[in-house]
Amino acid sequence: MDRYGVIGHPIRHSRSPDIHRHFALLTGQNLSYERIEGTPDGFETEVVRFFAAGGLGLNVTLPFKERAFALAVQRSHRAQVARAANTLGMTPEGVLWADNTDGEGLVRDMTLNLGVNLKGSRVLILGAGGAARGIVQPLLKAGIVQLDIANRTVVRAQTLVRELESLSNEVSCRAFSWPEIPAHGYEVVINATSTAVAGDLPPLPAVLFDQRTLAYDLGYGKGLTTPFLKLAREAGAGQTEDGLGMLVEQAAESFYLWRGIRPPGAEVLYALRAACH
Ligand code: ATR
Repeated sequence: MDRYGVIGHPIRHSRSPDIHRHFALLTGQNLSYERIEGTPDGFETEVVRFFAAGGLGLNVTLPFKERAFALAVQRSHRAQVARAANTLGMTPEGVLWADNTDGEGLVRDMTLNLGVNLKGSRVLILGAGGAARGIVQPLLKAGIVQLDIANRTVVRAQTLVRELESLSNEVSCRAFSWPEIPAHGYEVVINATSTAVAGDLPPLPAVLFDQRTLAYDLGYGKGLTTPFLKLAREAGAGQTEDGLGMLVEQAAESFYLWRGIRPPGAEVLYALRAACH
């Protein structure tokens, strides 16, 4: 049977096996998908061993995404911008390739599952670390007109914005420290910080959110809320969404890269949400 898997540390709680088994069932694909507990010292060896044993594709999660990118020989443009990979595969010639489907997953969740029209919209990302890097390239290509990055350490936001400016002429990009965040003007505000504690969130200007704002958290928890989404809702955001849809859609994009078939992400997302309640 065609063999796939997800490698991370820890990996016990990964929902990817569940998602990919759903995809395989719904698309009639005969494949297996396993959890692999990577080790900090042995990640590269474990990946090489997996493919040498006939494995066809791996998803990569924390803390190995940068190392997966470094290990690969062929790297997609979006993985290069992210400097990290969440999907590995092997060409027919035996060359290890790396891609990053996180940003595409986010854009597809917003546009297809949530029905958001990103064309002409202004987007603010909170955070300038790995999670932010992972989503910027597909966002730049989604028809938005403004992409601002705000970060506690402003120099990281500035560095990322300089890179983005060289990638797009159509999208205006700016960097802000927390206190400099403009009070309003964003249709989409994305939390890409790694903080899950409400007290760690920046003192976001309350008027940042109104009825027209979509507040999107790349993270997700049990139930439908996160501290960021709670804060956004209390401040008046019209729509608040967690990252479960992005998780499903990034998996769908990986599945598509490996199998050439696009699984029905929305259907699987619906099943996962139902299982959460
Ligand atoms: P990840 O891969 O999850 O993005 P990361 O690369 O370490 O992890 O980046 C974490 C992001 O969350 C950064 O933007 C970080 O801000 P700094 O660059 O200033 O460190 C942000 N972050 C983490 N903890 C935070 C906190 N307590 N308050 C504000 N921002 C925080």
